[in-house]
Amino acid sequence: MQETFILRQFDMVDLSSVTNINRACLPENYTDFFYVDLYRRFSETFLVAEENGEVIGYIMCRIEVGLSNFGLGGLIKKGHVVSVAVMPKHRRKGIAEAIIKASMEKMKTKYNAKQCYLEVRVTNEPAVGLYRKLGFDVTRTIHGYYADGEDAYVMSRKL
Ligand code: ACO
Ligand code: ZN
Repeated sequence: MQETFILRQFDMVDLSSVTNINRACLPENYTDFFYVDLYRRFSETFLVAEENGEVIGYIMCRIEVGLSNFGLGGLIKKGHVVSVAVMPKHRRKGIAEAIIKASMEKMKTKYNAKQCYLEVRVTNEPAVGLYRKLGFDVTRTIHGYYADGEDAYVMSRKL
């Protein structure tokens, strides 16, 4: 069968699919409340990728007010990518790239965010490569950010 994916907003019925993908793909896991809270507050940027009726990837974000990640300027709105993942057998088909681009577009048009940023493990080469391809730069390193002591890059781009 021809495989094509669609992107759509997260819905409450997707909760178990998304938590399953998160557990399969990342060591950073969250309570159901955490997902539901992001959905209620920032539904426009909480997206899923679906293929043949199956949810195979997600992105969830938060809109924050803070200082520019590029120096200069006062308080601005920033889109924070809290978590993004695609199931292993569906990787390298452009799904993450598409879902992040779609979410960044919503950050800008629905929430008036001026920048987008995220934290990523310094050793996570697929993800760091993905963010670089999307125009993110490393703007900071946070030592010992993760529970196991690994450092995080903060990667940022303008919207
Ligand atoms: N090695 C090197 N570069 C890669 C890799 C890889 N394994 N995977 C993706 N990339 C880069 C490439 O530049 C790629 O472009 P190309 O295929 O033209 O070379 C580009 O990213 C786009 O790749 P996609 O196909 O869109 O990415 P995919 O759908 O495979 O998802 C993701 C990438 C989300 C990182 C996936 O590997 C994954 O789910 N990993 C585990 C979870 C994870 O690490 N999530 C990010 C954590 S940080 C955070 O959530 C803020
Ligand atoms: Zn974060």
